[in-house]
Amino acid sequence: MDKLVVEGGATLSGSVQISGAKNAVLPILAATLLADRQCVISNVPNLKDVRTLIEILREVGLEAEFRSPGTLVTKVVDESNCTARYELVSTMRASIYLLAPLLAKRGYAKVSLPGGCVFGLRPVDLHVKGLEALGAEITLEHGYIVARAPKGRLQGGYVYLAGPMGSSVGATANTLMAACLADGKTVIEGAACEPEITDLALFLNRMGATIEGIGTPTLKITGVPSLRGGATRVCPDRIEAGTYMAMAAMTGGDIRLHDVRPDHMGAQIDVFRAMGVTVEDEGQGVLRVARSGPLTPTRISMLPYPCFPTDMQAQLVSLLSVTPGMSVVTERIYPERFMHCAELSRMGAQIHREGPSAIICGVEQLSGAEVMASDLRAGAALVAAGLVAKGTTTVHRVYHIDRGYENFEEKLTGLGATIFRVSSTPSESIKRAA
Ligand code: UD1
Repeated sequence: MDKLVVEGGATLSGSVQISGAKNAVLPILAATLLADRQCVISNVPNLKDVRTLIEILREVGLEAEFRSPGTLVTKVVDESNCTARYELVSTMRASIYLLAPLLAKRGYAKVSLPGGCVFGLRPVDLHVKGLEALGAEITLEHGYIVARAPKGRLQGGYVYLAGPMGSSVGATANTLMAACLADGKTVIEGAACEPEITDLALFLNRMGATIEGIGTPTLKITGVPSLRGGATRVCPDRIEAGTYMAMAAMTGGDIRLHDVRPDHMGAQIDVFRAMGVTVEDEGQGVLRVARSGPLTPTRISMLPYPCFPTDMQAQLVSLLSVTPGMSVVTERIYPERFMHCAELSRMGAQIHREGPSAIICGVEQLSGAEVMASDLRAGAALVAAGLVAKGTTTVHRVYHIDRGYENFEEKLTGLGATIFRVSSTPSESIKRAA
């Protein structure tokens, strides 16, 4: 398995290009199954999760080829296979996004249950609730969700979709995709308002869907008999951008993020500014992030958009572990999502858990260590810690990072970091180190 070796002490400077959002491109790719004609998706990041989803989509009859780097052209060529196999689905939870398009377009879907993950139980009850509200008959059989549309078509309906932890991004995406081809009108209350849902909804409308209330918790959809094709450019990844913001803040750097949507990053920008980080919107999608003075501690909860995102929690904890004073981070979406804290503690961070909160007492310096990425964002948080730690940090299980950060070490090297990959294939490792 690959590992990343990071030398501490660099101050990040220069510019970095932000990629298309992982969490936007995945539902958009699944939505291409709904189209009768060709779709063209640009700004597609080259990520492991994207490659896996394309592989799953090909199995269910989607022809998908890159016309140029980052521009994918898709067309459904065979609608006979409606099963997403466990072997592929188990590697990526977002495969649940196949459920609605297959069901709404073909009248039947069989998708393996994705299972849990390191940050706790991840139920699918809201996905089922949303689709049942549209008349789907759903059973759980041998680890698969099997969904049928009576007489091959779904019916519009009303559904309140938020659960105990608030709105669900995935359940909103699935219900929304299904409603586009359902007969009649659908109202989704308690819909997720994440920019990635907005990106999906705008794409669906370009394909011929009729969705109103985009970006709000109430989505109103008038079903159409079919969707043609469509083109879209995937929105910038606000979590990738936030990760480099945290790294710039930690290292006392001065960087420019290119191709970002600051309007998608309000909570992150606000929290960083309150901590003493300079964040300037320079227009044209450029955000300058710099820090010269001391950082100040904070108290913050991770909540659904537009609040501070759970996907930035680990990177923020990393930053707070070198911020003088006591900070409190409360995770309201995934109360168990704190695996990175134990690894950061191995680097000298002072972090205590109390229920869904982490209490962080900033230390003057972390010390480089061998650490393990438990998930995607935890991996990025450990690399961030490595950038300011004394000595060398080796982050194991880099495949988590590869799921969601395009050209991670290349981008960091471009900003002045000393980081290289040690590949499990020796010749590859020598090539990369050189
Ligand atoms: C998406 C993101 C993930 C992010 C998360 C929360 C993608 C591919 N992944 O995941 O990066 O961390 O949103 O912003 O976009 N829940 C239920 N029942 C359900 C579904 C969810 O109770 O049927 C709960 C979850 O356990 C969690 C909360 O709802 O507590 C939000 O989860 P959800 O928004 O669905 O997350 P995902 O869509 O899986």
